[in-house]
Amino acid sequence: MSSKQVLVCQHHSCLTQGASEVLAAFLSQVSSDVAIVPIGCQGQCHLGATVRVMPDEVWYCRVKPQDVETIAQSHLQNDQTVDRLLHPRFHPTYSTP
Ligand code: FES
Repeated sequence: MSSKQVLVCQHHSCLTQGASEVLAAFLSQVSSDVAIVPIGCQGQCHLGATVRVMPDEVWYCRVKPQDVETIAQSHLQNDQTVDRLLHPRFHPTYSTP
């Protein structure tokens, strides 16, 4: 059973970049054993929508609703990060901003 949490920023800048649709996609596509948590600004407003997966401490940036299925299947179900969406500030080795 997973104990992961997905924190989805719902503050101003991320909302203008589709964060409410991203949140809705997680809520509709992710199994109930993963907690989907709307959260305030994460300080990464210029690269929204910002999504963090905990306790893995993995940060995703520029997340769009169409990316949610990939995150759900790859990371939440199989523990494989989605490298193309990793935030370059926190995961500089893998990201190509
Ligand atoms: S508004 Fe989402 S990280 Fe700041």
